[in-house]
Amino acid sequence: MPRAQLHLLPWLSFFFTVSHIIRSSYGDVGTSAQYPPPYLPTACYGGDAGQFPSSNLFAAAGDGIWDNGAACGRQYLVRCISAEQPRTCFLDQNIQVKIVDYVAMANSQPSETGTTMVLSEAAFSTIANSSATLINIEFQQV
Ligand SMILES: *[C@@H]1O[C@H](CO)[C@@H](O)[C@H](O)[C@H]1NC(C)=O
Repeated sequence: MPRAQLHLLPWLSFFFTVSHIIRSSYGDVGTSAQYPPPYLPTACYGGDAGQFPSSNLFAAAGDGIWDNGAACGRQYLVRCISAEQPRTCFLDQNIQVKIVDYVAMANSQPSETGTTMVLSEAAFSTIANSSATLINIEFQQV
């Protein structure tokens, strides 16, 4: 290998280490509550029952991520990092949720107001004990 390229090796390995660290952590920290059925109609897609992913992992956007409706259809990776009630976070679980609603217009009340996103019961109970009402999350748009 020519000397000029050998000089680049430490920089390359530095670059890959940093990009690996960035990829294995999530973008933002926020809060989540949960909301029960009925989920229809939604602010994004009205009364169409086909809007929900078959996994039932979906969410309503809070004011912070609603983005004037541009949030509709966005997918987020979400995990629980801590909870108001001790030991209710399932720290090893991740979910991918689809935004289908706006919290302020949702058909049912969230377990807590003012959160970043409100998760469907199926989504919430995958990353936290369903008895919890408020959790802290890490989330990233995918
Ligand atoms: C959820 O919490 C309740 C009481 O706080 C506990 O009895 C139950 O075992 C927990 N469930 C899970 C799946 O951790």
